[in-house]
Amino acid sequence: MPWGRRRPQHFTGDGILKVTVVGAGTMGRGIAQVFAQAGNGVVLTDVYPKALETASAEIQKSLAKLHAKGIIAEPPEVVFKRINFTGDLSAGKNSDLFVEAVLERFDVKEALYKQLNELAGENSIIASNTSSISINALSSAIRKPENFLGLHFFNPVPIMKLVEIIKGVRTSPSVVEKSLEFVKQLGKDPVTSEDFPGFISNRILMPLIREAILTLEEGVSSKEDIDKTLRLGMNHPMGPLELADFIGLDVVQDIMKVLYHEFGDSRFMPPVTLRNLVNARRLGRKSGEGFYKY
Ligand SMILES: NC(=O)c1ccc[n+]([C@@H]2O[C@H](COP(=O)([O-])OP(=O)(O)OC[C@H]3O[C@@H](n4cnc5c(N)ncnc54)[C@H](O)[C@@H]3O)[C@@H](O)[C@H]2O)c1
Repeated sequence: MPWGRRRPQHFTGDGILKVTVVGAGTMGRGIAQVFAQAGNGVVLTDVYPKALETASAEIQKSLAKLHAKGIIAEPPEVVFKRINFTGDLSAGKNSDLFVEAVLERFDVKEALYKQLNELAGENSIIASNTSSISINALSSAIRKPENFLGLHFFNPVPIMKLVEIIKGVRTSPSVVEKSLEFVKQLGKDPVTSEDFPGFISNRILMPLIREAILTLEEGVSSKEDIDKTLRLGMNHPMGPLELADFIGLDVVQDIMKVLYHEFGDSRFMPPVTLRNLVNARRLGRKSGEGFYKY
């Protein structure tokens, strides 16, 4: 049975009631949606009004689709009403949980945390959805680092079950426990990771994508056959080149650069073909062309 039907309409799991999601881009809007689906009141905020407009339209579309498929039982408009779309970050004051999903840049996140420190209560949890920046490094900008951790959702958030929970050295075990329980109540299936570059997922995925690109670059096989091998031979739902296009080739390159820099190991070095595609702005699905045409 879909999780939306098993759950009480207004979940108050572990006292988390009010959630603020900062950044209404690809990830933030999906994260806001799943919190609303679980019955939480959500403040979704962004510095660009256009991002909030897009988020509102995309969330409505997604809720309607999930409802039509029977994945959520509640009327979409009821879920939608739980989200307050606003450019005013102070609307999130005293939220039980803040999830930061802004650009993958340390300086941008650090500047935002200065504001969140003012809005967070003594027991508020602050989580980053970062894919690659160190949780310990980010925690240095947080007033109460024991209440800070990584909650790494996957794209598309309403569909993907996995959430990586990343513990910083200073994260309190009770905050990890609370976050684990809470993520389960969202209908997600969490794993925990120490704060190592790429955590679990990208540490394993990036060398796979890199090797697939090198296999293509060296003329071993065609892109179609490389992807088919992983789909049919290893039962992956998508081949690694298709997946890279889906993630965005610029994002893939940025993650590889961080891992290469942090580990100093060539198994993470961005291949030349990837660099050339990114420089030519062939970024995958989002630009209409990457390894494949869309
Ligand atoms: N895209 C993915 O597949 C994916 C997967 C997992 C994690 N992440 C991580 O999630 C985070 C967000 O990624 P995304 O793909 O949603 O990016 P995105 O570019 O789609 O969205 C980022 C949003 O943050 C907003 N923003 C920037 N600075 C802000 C500020 N100070 N206050 C409020 N809003 C601000 C931008 O206007 C933009 O709308 C990044 O840390 C990224 O590494 C991304």
